[in-house]
Amino acid sequence: MKQLDFRKKWVLITGASSGLGEEMARQLAQQYGANLILVARRQERLEILKKDIEQKTGSQVALFVADLSKSAEVGDLLKTILQQYEPYAAILNAGVTHLGKQLDLTNEHFDQMIHTNVISVVYMANQFVKYFEQKQLEGALMFVSSMAALFPTPYQAAYSGTKGFLLNFATALSQELSNSKFSMTVFMPGGIVTEMTSTEGFNELRGYLMPVTQVAKEGLTAFRKRKLTYIPGFLNRLSSRFSFLLRKEFIIKQTGKVYKKSLDKKS
Ligand SMILES: NC(=O)c1ccc[n+]([C@@H]2O[C@H](COP(=O)([O-])OP(=O)(O)OC[C@H]3O[C@@H](n4cnc5c(N)ncnc54)[C@H](OP(=O)(O)O)[C@@H]3O)[C@@H](O)[C@H]2O)c1
Repeated sequence: MKQLDFRKKWVLITGASSGLGEEMARQLAQQYGANLILVARRQERLEILKKDIEQKTGSQVALFVADLSKSAEVGDLLKTILQQYEPYAAILNAGVTHLGKQLDLTNEHFDQMIHTNVISVVYMANQFVKYFEQKQLEGALMFVSSMAALFPTPYQAAYSGTKGFLLNFATALSQELSNSKFSMTVFMPGGIVTEMTSTEGFNELRGYLMPVTQVAKEGLTAFRKRKLTYIPGFLNRLSSRFSFLLRKEFIIKQTGKVYKKSLDKKS
């Protein structure tokens, strides 16, 4: 399958108002000449980003303000985007976490996480894939999962579950498709320096975080090359490759210890 060519094509990115989504938007415009459809709740942040990208590059930017934790907003959103822009690719990146004990996670916050990280992603992926299956167009879809999909993460238990869902869902779905010009990528970063990891609870984990520019760059290269799964960072790839040498219980226990230490220091 030939590599993706984003030039002058519309690429949808959810969660583009900060962090990884914002950085991928900037790089897609600057390095690859893509036009962008950006989605998030914070309108002001999106407008500043649009202005900046349009001033610095020849790319066009369209904005959609939406709360992806509200299922009702999701169906109409993608329908409109598909009709108005005929996108070439989509990066389903929006996500939230809960850092702390699972028993401190309220049902309300859990509902919001499941709707943002899982339900809206499945709804949008279904519509996006259907569109490409019916039209047999060239294109691609990226799911932003996490290394937490591979390594169950204590103190981010529910989050880790949502990211595991995305990995299994997307890789399984990829085998059901008939369009040979359409590919899917599951991107699985380890820790990244973004708003998500800016809270005190992550203080002791800062040494493990990668710069967002590097993560975005590697993610877009993997997407362009149509890799089915990709982990950014040499050390992250190494640890996932050789993790089979250790018992899973041991890895989970050690991960839990590191997180607990960081959370204890905060309080
Ligand atoms: N940071 C890490 O260590 C790390 C590691 C692995 C994977 N990831 C994944 O990378 C993705 C991006 O996270 P990030 O690190 O860049 O965090 P971030 O800076 O907090 O960005 C999260 C983005 O998601 C959007 N979002 C959250 N809830 C939303 C909702 N209900 N509706 C619409 N948009 C929503 C936010 O926009 P608004 O608030 O404006 O809506 C924001 O643009 C997530 O899926 C995350 O799980 C992060």
